[in-house]
Amino acid sequence: MKTDYSNPRKLAFINALFIFISAVISGLFYTIVLEYWPVWLKVFITGMVLAILAFFLFQYTLDRFIYSKVRLIYKSIRTQKIAGKDKNRRSSHTETLDNVYQEVENWNKSRSQEIAELKRMADYRREFLGNISHELKAPIFNIQGYVLTLLDGGLEDPSINKDYLLRTESSINRLIAIVEDLETISKLEAGELKLNLTKLDVTILAGEVMDFLEIKARKRKNTLFFNQQYEKPILVIADKDQLRQVFINLIDNAIKYGHPQKGSTKISFFDMDDHLLVEVTDNGSGMETNELTRIFERFYRTDKGRSREQGGTGLGLAIVKHIIEAHEQTINVRSTPGVGTTFAFTLKKA
Ligand SMILES: Nc1ncnc2c1ncn2[C@@H]1O[C@H](COP(=O)(O)OP(=O)(O)O)[C@@H](O)[C@H]1O
Ligand SMILES: [Mg+2]
Repeated sequence: MKTDYSNPRKLAFINALFIFISAVISGLFYTIVLEYWPVWLKVFITGMVLAILAFFLFQYTLDRFIYSKVRLIYKSIRTQKIAGKDKNRRSSHTETLDNVYQEVENWNKSRSQEIAELKRMADYRREFLGNISHELKAPIFNIQGYVLTLLDGGLEDPSINKDYLLRTESSINRLIAIVEDLETISKLEAGELKLNLTKLDVTILAGEVMDFLEIKARKRKNTLFFNQQYEKPILVIADKDQLRQVFINLIDNAIKYGHPQKGSTKISFFDMDDHLLVEVTDNGSGMETNELTRIFERFYRTDKGRSREQGGTGLGLAIVKHIIEAHEQTINVRSTPGVGTTFAFTLKKA
């Protein structure tokens, strides 16, 4: 018969039954077999035998009882199944009981951490949504203003009609840029963008991006150059499209926030054994130290960034950081107000 150790009434009954049977048997034994022993000795020995029996019986059943209850708690607080190792521990119930307090405590702690983390995520989502609508509002209201003016007769006014349409287009482009950046960042955060790692020559990739941004740079009187001539290829292992995005975002910032008249943007590579250090340096406005810790946050822009450049979404550096971290590499920034800024990130050499 398999005993159910979780029912106290049954256990007590079984214990009582055992004691009753042993009392009857020992009583019979002493009265019939040891007939001539003195009564006090028989009573004493019977008492002793029963006490020892009861001690072990109670200990055993109580132990099993508590263990069977505790096991239920264990099952509900443990995220993993009770492994084979723990099943073997059935023999040392007291040890389990000793550990239970500690385990419940740990469980409690990790639950509170989880809850705190969830709350933080909820706050973050709220803030993120608030930021998004705030960012979208400006171009939408601008478009509304231009269109209303055009509808109110502006369409027939040659001094503003084309101009307002061009402004409308630029606001639409801004909306597109925001939505594209949002899409990229949500894919990165959802871990949807799988890295497509290949061996590539980083000097060629950087060169392509510099060509791509050349016109924009020239418009802002900024020159893009390598710190030295790189004749031999520098091979790294990275996702080409994502690394291109990193270069675009960093060089674009260097142009936007660079020196307004004599801007220069320098790309450098430094060999560090297993890794390559890539630096993008500008001679622009620079940033205060307290801003440096925040610029990788989504939507964060310094006041200078805000007033000088309306085109940015404030998501560029957040995307860059995500991409670099997905490559298990690091990025950091050094900056001196009025002197310039350097973004430095590592890449794995091929
Ligand atoms: N090279 C730089 N020099 C000075 N400030 C910079 C530079 N790069 C980034 N920043 C600051 O960091 C902010 C965040 O950059 P980013 O995420 O690329 O957003 P965005 O370019 O859309 O403004 C910018 O708004 C700007 O204030
Ligand atoms: Mg940017």
